[in-house]
Amino acid sequence: MSEFRLTQISDTHLGRRFAGLVANFHCISEHIDATRPDLVVNSGDVSFDGPTSRDDVEFAKSLHDALPVQCRHLPGNHDIGDNPTAVGPAPASPVSEAHRQQFRAVLGEDHWQFEAAGWCFIGLNSLVMNSGLAFETEQFDWLTSQLAGAKGKPVALFLHKPLFLNLPDDPELTETSFRYVPQPARQRLAQMLGEIDLRLVAGGHVHQRRDFTFRHTRHVWAPSAGFVISDQRQQRIGIKEVGLVEYRFQPDSLEVRHVRPPGLVDIDLDEIQAQMAAD
Ligand SMILES: [Fe+2]
Ligand SMILES: [Fe+2]
Repeated sequence: MSEFRLTQISDTHLGRRFAGLVANFHCISEHIDATRPDLVVNSGDVSFDGPTSRDDVEFAKSLHDALPVQCRHLPGNHDIGDNPTAVGPAPASPVSEAHRQQFRAVLGEDHWQFEAAGWCFIGLNSLVMNSGLAFETEQFDWLTSQLAGAKGKPVALFLHKPLFLNLPDDPELTETSFRYVPQPARQRLAQMLGEIDLRLVAGGHVHQRRDFTFRHTRHVWAPSAGFVISDQRQQRIGIKEVGLVEYRFQPDSLEVRHVRPPGLVDIDLDEIQAQMAAD
């Protein structure tokens, strides 16, 4: 295959009680049906609240199964719980092996590798990083062998949390340490990635659209396909609008398009929380 078209969706936060988020997913589905990429990757926060509601994960799975295209998923903090960080408070819902196993049972593998159009694609579970769970070490060992197997091919990495804000060694701040891959796991990951031809890091989690290049690696933050977070709640870094990202990979080349399919609505998190309070 000389060209591989991949559509990244992220932060769908699906649960059957959230009609607005489901309606946005249907707009996304129609766009995917019309464009028929080779693969859809959901880069996490697939479900509204996996740790307390297996039904959210199963409902999300049913909507992805209805897509006319193969899907791969990665876990987000709302699917399997969050990472502990060195500087921030302990997460209210910490990542656990039981939540990870639920994700795998319903949505499939939480880390994966495949090759297409001369590229090596790797998906990582970013929530186990810095967790101390046995799978954290297991995944790093797995990654070491996958990177060795890439044998100089360009690598595209997908994970829920962006690696960093602007620079790999940005200091961790208490208020934002939950936003990026936490230290010291980030440094270990950066060292491993520094030894290969890393061309793309595609994440989500922040619910803001952003696209920048650091050295020869393009960092893409997919927006949420479901909702935005107001400036009162969250610093504005990129663009706050819902949408998806389309990639076109060819041997040694990459195109990125940020797309806002027709009909999508910029639902605000405040509206969702007001609905939850009223339910
Ligand atoms: Fe999210
Ligand atoms: Fe997230």
